[in-house]
Formats: sequence, structure tokens, C-alpha cells
Amino acid sequence: MPILPASPTDFNIIRSAYAELTVTDLEASRAHYVDLLGLVESARTEDALYLRALEERQHHCLVLRQAQRPAVNALGFKVSCEEDLGRLEAHFRRLGLPAVYVQKEFQGRTLRARDPQGMPLEFFHRMDPVERMLQRFDLYRGAHVMRIDHLNCMVADVQAAHDFYARQLGFRVSEYTETDAADPQLWAAWMHRKGNVHDLALMNGDGPRLHHVGMWVENGLDLIRICDIFAAAHLTDRLERGPGRHGLSNAMFLYVRDPDGHRTELYTGDYQTMDPDFEPIRWSVNDVRRQTFWGHKAPECWFLEASEFVWNGEPVPRQPARLSERPAIAT
Ligand SMILES: [Fe+2]
Repeated sequence: MPILPASPTDFNIIRSAYAELTVTDLEASRAHYVDLLGLVESARTEDALYLRALEERQHHCLVLRQAQRPAVNALGFKVSCEEDLGRLEAHFRRLGLPAVYVQKEFQGRTLRARDPQGMPLEFFHRMDPVERMLQRFDLYRGAHVMRIDHLNCMVADVQAAHDFYARQLGFRVSEYTETDAADPQLWAAWMHRKGNVHDLALMNGDGPRLHHVGMWVENGLDLIRICDIFAAAHLTDRLERGPGRHGLSNAMFLYVRDPDGHRTELYTGDYQTMDPDFEPIRWSVNDVRRQTFWGHKAPECWFLEASEFVWNGEPVPRQPARLSERPAIAT
């Protein structure tokens, strides 16, 4: 099945910028993300915690909101100017997809829309500026998380989702995974706007669900340090997979689970993709080096468990994965 070139758009999505998750115990979440992982607390409101990473000048890259059950309220994307929001609104409406403006604390006008798979998206241009902590080395802790890097989603039909993000929103493919059938099927697509490997990963699975939020760390040793920190805190159950090196993306990684099961990937060391003649890189779903370059297999929970989306307070219905192929899992 084809990988499509990005279609030109009259708006400019800059990058993935935040995720808003619901959590069942804000204090437990704060201990995980701030005290252990080392994110910076930008604000605490009655029902939410706003976090950012060390190099970020914008108010938040992760919003944790108190709720009865863990879920995902929104995936946030920054656009290049205020006028882009009106163009995006018109575009979503032309496609027959919901798009409304909502008030969000600490950020400007925000367009809330829904993609054809049912994923809740938010687009904004302005966010409150905050102090950049990049050179506050005295405050570094945990995994030395520098910035949000990407959002990874499981979707039932990767081809359809890829087609939407390439044709309608101008996302480019850096690397992709196909089945080995005579008529190869698209199993995963890593898509970007900012010029590294991805802003949005689409992966075959029951969905739509958020698989993980990817956070950029300073270097590979940060992954070792955070393993030691979780182990010392008797929280080894939060270390789900890694450290390792991905074949796809070449990045070093570690996957951790928060107290509600939301997954974060600590990630570093991918590469640039902004050349217009960049050729997307193909992987077979059966290539053992694809998921971990060194051949280590992911645990089954990594393929099965993910966070559900909500839209207007209701869970977004989950569709079964279209493709039955699955990479090898650890036994
Ligand atoms: Fe990732």
C-alpha cells in the first residue's frame, strides 16, 4: 500500500506540543513525573497539574487532570500563526469533521477538532512563556527530560490514518512498516512536521488509543540513571521496556508506566528529516531489528495496553485492528 507525499496546506502545523491526560491521583502523578522523571511544575490548579521539560519556553507539554478514570483528553499541536487556526477550522469543517474553539488555561485561542479515527486534537499558536531551565543545571533531576518529542497512537486502520495526516494535514513520513504479504499492508507510519523522525506515530492496534508520549532526554545515560532511580524507589514495575535502541528511528529508548498506566517513552538520538528529497525508510513487520535494533523483543503488554481517548466526556469507541500481523513478542 502506498506511502503518500505530504499534500500542500494553507496552514502550517509546526510540531506536536502537548498531551492532556486524566489521572486518578494528582499527588501520585506528581511524584512520578516531577519527583522521579524530573519534569518541571509550571502550575497547579484546583484539578490539574501543568508540566514542562527543561529546555521548553512554553508553559506546558503535559497536562494531568484529576478524573475518575485515566484517559486522554487531547493531543496538542502548535501552528505557525493565529490565522492558521481559522484556516484549519475551515478545513476540518469542509471535511465534515468537528472543530470548535475552546478556552484553555495558559494558552491562547485553541481549536479542538476530531480526526476521522476519533482522536481529539487541539491546535494553538500562543502559550504563556516561561523560564527556560536549560542552563539551570542545579535543578536537573531524574531523566533530564528536555522537551516533548512525539505522540504515538494505536489506530485500527493505519493506511486510512496515514492518508488523512499526509493528504489533509501535510504530515511527512520518515519511516514506515509493512507486512510481508504479496500485497504489502501498511502496519505503521512515523510522520513528522518538525523535521526529525516523528511528531505523530501511527501503529496498528485496537484503537484509537494513545500508546505513549515521547519525551526527549539529554543522552543515553539518562535512561540508565532513571532505571536506577525507579529501582531504588522500589518501582521496578514502572520500567516496562528497555533501555534499548530502536531500529526504526535509530533512537535510544526506555518505556515507563505512570501510576495510572499511561506510558512515557524517554527517547534520544534520532536524526534530521527535513530535506524535501528525504526518502522514507521501509521496515518489514517481521524484521527483528525493527523494534529493538539489538533483537530484544517487546513484552506483550507493550502491544496490547494503551490509554483510551475521551471526547465530550465519553470514551471514543475502539475499533479492532485491521491487520492481524504482530511483531515477535517476548515470552
Ligand atoms: Fe515513540
